[in-house]
Amino acid sequence: MRSIVVRGGKRLAGRVSVEGAKNSALKLMAAALMAPGTSRITNVPDIADVDIMAEVLTGLGVTVSRSDHSLEIDASGITSVEAPYEMVAKMRASTAVLGPLVSRIGEANVAMPGGCNIGSRKIDMHIRGLEQLGVDIVLGHGYIHASAKDGLRGADITLDFPSVGATENILMAAVLAEGRTTLENAAREPEIQDLASFLVSMGASVDGAGTPVIVVDGVEALHPCEHRVIGDRVEAGTYLVAGALGGGPVAVEGFDPHHLDMVLSKLEQAGCTVDRRADGVTVALDGRAQCVDIQTLPYPGFPTDMQAQFMALLAIADGSCVITENVFENRFMFADELVRMGADIRIESHHALIKGVSQLSGAPVRSPDLRAGAALVLAGLAADGETEVGEMHHIERGYERFVEKLVGLGADISVVESDTPEGA
Ligand code: UD1
Repeated sequence: MRSIVVRGGKRLAGRVSVEGAKNSALKLMAAALMAPGTSRITNVPDIADVDIMAEVLTGLGVTVSRSDHSLEIDASGITSVEAPYEMVAKMRASTAVLGPLVSRIGEANVAMPGGCNIGSRKIDMHIRGLEQLGVDIVLGHGYIHASAKDGLRGADITLDFPSVGATENILMAAVLAEGRTTLENAAREPEIQDLASFLVSMGASVDGAGTPVIVVDGVEALHPCEHRVIGDRVEAGTYLVAGALGGGPVAVEGFDPHHLDMVLSKLEQAGCTVDRRADGVTVALDGRAQCVDIQTLPYPGFPTDMQAQFMALLAIADGSCVITENVFENRFMFADELVRMGADIRIESHHALIKGVSQLSGAPVRSPDLRAGAALVLAGLAADGETEVGEMHHIERGYERFVEKLVGLGADISVVESDTPEGA
């Protein structure tokens, strides 16, 4: 029932700090399952997806306690091996418990994720990789039942595509397998490196995370550890685009600028001034952005999770350009909402052809997913008049205090109870 209302046209300037990375924190929480005892994870964002993962772990018999931005996860007594459909349907990343459960307990029963608003999001590579490690997989009644009564064996595995989720599940399973696993065409995202360093702190032997070849030498057991989550590069990128749309200078702090190299280079090509520091970046833009072509690719390419925010920026840039989405087949759904705000965007298969307009006009719009929701708010910041972005719960899945942080930069934005039920 809640929406975000933005009155556009304000100059944005100031400082904003980002939280720990959602996509890392969720996987570290799953990995904590692998060591009996209490692991401590700090710099955990206060967002809805973390609440869901905590619920998934609690359902497995794990105790999760939270104070401020820290989590203590006591995985001494696992009493269930099931991630039920209600949880997986709420958050696909719940499937990250598959690898840890099967490696520690020898069994897992995880609901199959269905399609979602950004594409079909298959799980075949997770399954094939686990089978190569000696796991028996039976699919039935909407569940993946995985068992490895005699333990897992290291294997040479090559992924068809550098999938983030498959790399993580296979990596976590391999850590407790017998012998060496070599994973080729692995995803290289910074969150994979963060997961590998967490596993190494737990006693695992992992080499090459962050490169396309990860080598794991299995160990017999892991121990709990303490780890700080890396800063959220997507949250950071979102505020940098807000800074570009609102003029800036906006200083975004709390993340490693190298994790956003491609995004920063595109901001520069669009005419922004980008000042990199060790722990953050300041962005400013005088006048209108220039159009730049973008194609999303696995890291270190341009992140698909920043595609929507860039479309909001390019919709009012000078010139014409093409955004090509190579990672998720259905991630342009929100473009129609931008068109309702006056953008000139045509979708041809996985290409968006954008002719920049000089001004967007505020309108009621709906956010189909997390990043698109944030992008529509950004578009509202630059639009004439009032934009109401419905279905705010999508944004709360991944952004902590989103409205408050934008208010801190000078945005005229607030939360309202809307008449339309969320999700209607
Ligand atoms: C993760 C991120 C998400 C990000 C994405 C790509 C989390 C919680 N989510 O999602 O924010 O946008 O990486 O950077 O970390 N695929 C298959 N078979 C598989 C696995 C994936 O065909 O077994 C396909 C997917 O349908 C998709 C592509 O590979 O088209 C990339 O997916 P993947 O990298 O696995 O993304 P996620 O881990 O789901």
